[in-house]
Amino acid sequence: MRILVTGGAGFIGSNFVHFLRRERPDCDIVVLDKLTYAGNPANLEGVEDEIEFIKGDVAEFEDVEAVVAGCDSIVNFAAETHVDRSIVDADAFIRTDIYGAYVLLETARALGVECFIQISTDEVYGEVAEGFSVETDPLMPRNPYAASKAGADRLAYSYWATHGVPVIISRGSNNYGPRQYPEKLIPLFVTNAIDGLECPIYGEGKAVRDWIHVDDHCRGILTMLEQGEPGEVYNCGGGNLRDTNQMAEGILGAAEAPLDLLKHVPDRVGHDMRYALDSSKLERLGWKPEVDFAEGLRRTVQWYKDNEDWWRPIKSGEFKQWWKHYYLDQGRG
Ligand code: NAD
Ligand code: DAU
Repeated sequence: MRILVTGGAGFIGSNFVHFLRRERPDCDIVVLDKLTYAGNPANLEGVEDEIEFIKGDVAEFEDVEAVVAGCDSIVNFAAETHVDRSIVDADAFIRTDIYGAYVLLETARALGVECFIQISTDEVYGEVAEGFSVETDPLMPRNPYAASKAGADRLAYSYWATHGVPVIISRGSNNYGPRQYPEKLIPLFVTNAIDGLECPIYGEGKAVRDWIHVDDHCRGILTMLEQGEPGEVYNCGGGNLRDTNQMAEGILGAAEAPLDLLKHVPDRVGHDMRYALDSSKLERLGWKPEVDFAEGLRRTVQWYKDNEDWWRPIKSGEFKQWWKHYYLDQGRG
């Protein structure tokens, strides 16, 4: 089995590569990654000699054709992923998340693959005021990131329905774990707390997310790859529903930082107030989340405490401009 992992230098993609090396050491892995601000070769440290890494853009046919040839499967993680950035400027989201998925799907159609996993997200359902989203629910994305992912999700399905490309769609919930870019809630709060900086809670902190450890998400994706049905969608949620206030207290508690670092700031516009997934369809394939949330969060916080050499260069580099533009200049910091 030779698997193409796009976006493999990012947070979940790199965790998936490490996971595959551990769980399926016989697989050949090719990573295609553009190395945007979120892509980091350091994320592949320890496996760099065991995989093939190609720097390239999923939205360029030339780059994609060169790597898809000879691959049995594709797992498409490559995307612009931060909701707040999509609110500021959606251009790269449309190009990578939608057009990039099109280029990959079209190439998979031309060259033929055994399985194409499109990594989608629970955000495609939009805000879920109560209950749990099932795979047949309508898609009602409410921010440009979620809308671009919904576009790719349905485009992928169309390549199954129209052209017979064996596509499987994974809709995961909020991942946490090592190597997440510190623009996202958990790594932002841990790293700020370590430096004694304020941690900005949007609005009243009542937005609920369904948290899943990245290892559980990776196992879910592998389950889909090995046992999923082409043309099907599978939710993959951790079942740990927490609002931002609860998360903030948990993170600062694990970091042994004072709660007076928490600061309520103006809300994200169009903020989805609740996501929640029903993952019973994937559970019927034998998967279930295994990482205990309190323990997973404790280990995650510890990882950032132990790996300052990973995040300090990021926070003193590109991230600084983002912090200034989105937080300081707009009254959130
Ligand atoms: P990330 O931002 O950490 O990493 C994205 C990776 O994609 C980076 O390595 C980046 O360099 C690469 N990339 C971006 N544009 C590219 C392009 N044009 N060509 C090639 N590579 C490109 O993202 P993540 O959090 O690891 O998310 C991975 C996938 O999982 C995304 O598709 C995201 O929508 C989805 N997802 C994320 C979560 C979550 O909680 N993080 C939950 C559900 C689904
Ligand atoms: O639900 C899956 C999605 O989860 C993925 O598809 C996205 O790629 C991923 O970025 C994530 O989106 P969220 O917007 O939920 O993640 P984020 O970490 O940005 O925010 C989590 C919650 O915390 C959300 O309700 C907003 C809030 N928040 C976030 C930040 C960065 C704050 O209150 N303050 C902050 O500074």
